[in-house]
Amino acid sequence: MRVLLTGGAGYIGSHTAVNLISDGNKVLLYDNLSNSDASVINGIAAITGVKPTLIKGDVLDEIGLVNAIEKFKPDAVIHFAGLKSVKESSLKPLEYYSTNVGGIVTLLRAMLKTGVNNVVFSSSATVYDSRQKMPVDENGIVGNAANPYGETKIICEKILADIWRRYSLNVTILRYFNPIGAHPSAMIGENPVYPNNLAPYITEVALGKREYLGVFGNDYPTVDGTGVRDYIHVCDLAEGHSLALKNMDGLKVYNLGTGKGSSVLEVLRAFCNVEERDIPYRIMPRREGDVAELVACCDKAKKELGFAPVYNLTDMARSCLAYARKNFSGKIK
Ligand SMILES: NC(=O)c1ccc[n+]([C@@H]2O[C@H](COP(=O)([O-])OP(=O)(O)OC[C@H]3O[C@@H](n4cnc5c(N)ncnc54)[C@H](O)[C@@H]3O)[C@@H](O)[C@H]2O)c1
Repeated sequence: MRVLLTGGAGYIGSHTAVNLISDGNKVLLYDNLSNSDASVINGIAAITGVKPTLIKGDVLDEIGLVNAIEKFKPDAVIHFAGLKSVKESSLKPLEYYSTNVGGIVTLLRAMLKTGVNNVVFSSSATVYDSRQKMPVDENGIVGNAANPYGETKIICEKILADIWRRYSLNVTILRYFNPIGAHPSAMIGENPVYPNNLAPYITEVALGKREYLGVFGNDYPTVDGTGVRDYIHVCDLAEGHSLALKNMDGLKVYNLGTGKGSSVLEVLRAFCNVEERDIPYRIMPRREGDVAELVACCDKAKKELGFAPVYNLTDMARSCLAYARKNFSGKIK
């Protein structure tokens, strides 16, 4: 299969590229490199023996997309490109709506023009209304997004469903829970300009780039009072995309998580165990918009796709630390 990956130079895109290439597929990465670096193709080549082509292009550029599609002739597109910081989305809502919503509209136009019929979309657990019982399955209530980022994902899902109704596209929406970790080779991983998520924060503290981890709230109704999320290794998540591509048929929605919740302190403990020492943390007030618990029910992906994550929390922590030690470019703001 030939697969175009918008945002393919990013964290999840690069791991998915490795997975797809290793499975015998051909990939083209299309990315404006606003949150990634072109050198990622060397990491992908070191792991797979195949250096993918990377086109520096914007998903808001319809002509650029059409040209890339006409040249590469993909069977499917996976749309990773987008802005992903929950916090930043409240500060720059228009940028988020423009890139995330504008991006899917432009991509779909380009696909319809060129006759590409299969699209996989990177959605998020943030589409779920958090005021419902966990674990949440795909029939859970969507809405009440706590921030513009979540709202953009809800709108993109609606657009995709409308397009599926009108045209004969196959659309698979993957709702990721909390991807962490890095490829076991430490050749590719997450290298954010500044960390937004828990694992990169802990990693920076472990590496001495930050003094301590701020833990926002320890009075939630959870196992130890800290927030519980469903962490999934990025390589398991990548495999989810390969499985989704093999099962494209109409409109499908899947949760991709592990089905197991872990608290902030449990994740921290996994990192401490790998490091064999304490990593400092401080309890801070709750953060606005944070919820007590967000955990996936992944029965549908298991049953229909054969999705079966294999990595545990220790693997996730170990691979984060190994990647950071090897590659850290430590820009802290
Ligand atoms: N990482 C997570 O925790 C998480 C969770 C749920 C959903 N998602 C979604 O998964 C997708 C991939 O996330 P990621 O963690 O790999 O993020 P990432 O930032 O590492 O990758 C996104 C890529 O898109 C590129 N990009 C951004 N705007 C673009 C544009 N206008 N044109 C072309 N390329 C552009 C960036 O340069 C980057 O390489 C995103 O859509 C994100 O919202 C991520």
